[in-house]
Amino acid sequence: MLAGRRILLIVSGSVAAYKALELTRLLRRDGAQVMAVLTVGGARFVTKEALAAITGERVHDDLWAAEAEIGHIRLARWPDMVAVVPGSADLIAKMAHGLADDLATCVLLATRAKILLAPAMNPAMWDHAATQRNIAALRSRGVTIAGPANGAMAEPESGPGRLMEPPELLDAIRAALSDGPLKGRHLIVTSGPTHEPIDPVRYIANRASGRQGHAIAAALAALGARVTLVSGPVTQPDPPGVAVVRVETAREMLAACEAALPADGVVCNAAVADWRTARAADQKMKKVPGAVPPPLELALNPDILATLSAAGPQRPRLVVGFAAETEHVIDNAISKRARKGCDWIVANDVSGDVMGGAENAVHLVTEAGVEDWPRMAKEEVARRLAARIAEALA
Ligand code: CTP
Repeated sequence: MLAGRRILLIVSGSVAAYKALELTRLLRRDGAQVMAVLTVGGARFVTKEALAAITGERVHDDLWAAEAEIGHIRLARWPDMVAVVPGSADLIAKMAHGLADDLATCVLLATRAKILLAPAMNPAMWDHAATQRNIAALRSRGVTIAGPANGAMAEPESGPGRLMEPPELLDAIRAALSDGPLKGRHLIVTSGPTHEPIDPVRYIANRASGRQGHAIAAALAALGARVTLVSGPVTQPDPPGVAVVRVETAREMLAACEAALPADGVVCNAAVADWRTARAADQKMKKVPGAVPPPLELALNPDILATLSAAGPQRPRLVVGFAAETEHVIDNAISKRARKGCDWIVANDVSGDVMGGAENAVHLVTEAGVEDWPRMAKEEVARRLAARIAEALA
């Protein structure tokens, strides 16, 4: 997918810098030409020799040496994309403020190429107001921010700040450079659970993690689509290059989807709560000793998939739903497709560890029949589905 594309990789100081080597391997396997700039901090974690061996190019690490050979302006003009992997808090701050005191920052200031930044740092540094303001500034200037992911850090600590994994970074770079088959198309994806309030502190929810829906949004973007991801409360990082609208309730999710129309296609992956409380209490409900627990009166939520399938002239050309079933998976999916009026149903058996898990075994139910896909990673399900959507919308 990246044949002939030129990527200038800037490797800055973070223990995650070793992942830049694996990313380089994936980029080159994908056909890209990669050159690397190593900062002083980056060189504490990976060697110039390792980067040179894996890029097959001379590595630039010194502003004045580079001036003698190629010059930072020529280096800045060479790539289709400058990918900062990993981006340390310090380099991010310099980028946000336009500092240019070494080769990496001079190139970042001089380039007109797309810039992708994959932050990596300790969660406290990531959460700091200064970093968050720097990230917001870079995002508003069109820098694609990839990650960070949530999870365990090198120190015994966990939280947001982990560098995204190399295959995800490859997807993000492909998406940012894509003139793929979905270029010019707009797709809406719903993801995650919804939270339906009972009172200000309690809510009805389900086990959905958003992993499958977020992966679908990323895969569609990787094929060049403009993607609006309408997500319930999840801890997944925003997929790079995707516009994310965060909602809590089913009614908010429907309103956000309708506001995002028109679209060429929609993929309803969210595990929308079928019911909400009929009247959420304004104040925290108190338990009265000895009294009978209060009944929970429920009201039916709108069906987002059915509503979008029946949207008249605004109906997206391709409407795809999911079916979460614990028995009679295929029969239920076939009747669900008819009942909701959608074009395709991706059916899965959720009686195991699918909800919140990493893998999925699905059946694609279309007008033409039922296809059984083998069990695979949710990211792979997403890529296959995105490829099918691209064919259908071609
Ligand atoms: N869905 C939706 N809005 C709802 C409920 C479901 O958009 N209020 C969508 C889901 O995103 C999914 C599809 O409908 O694409 C099927 O969801 P599922 O939970 O399997 O089915 P339900 O409609 O909830 O029916 P049931 O629970 O009876 O199986």
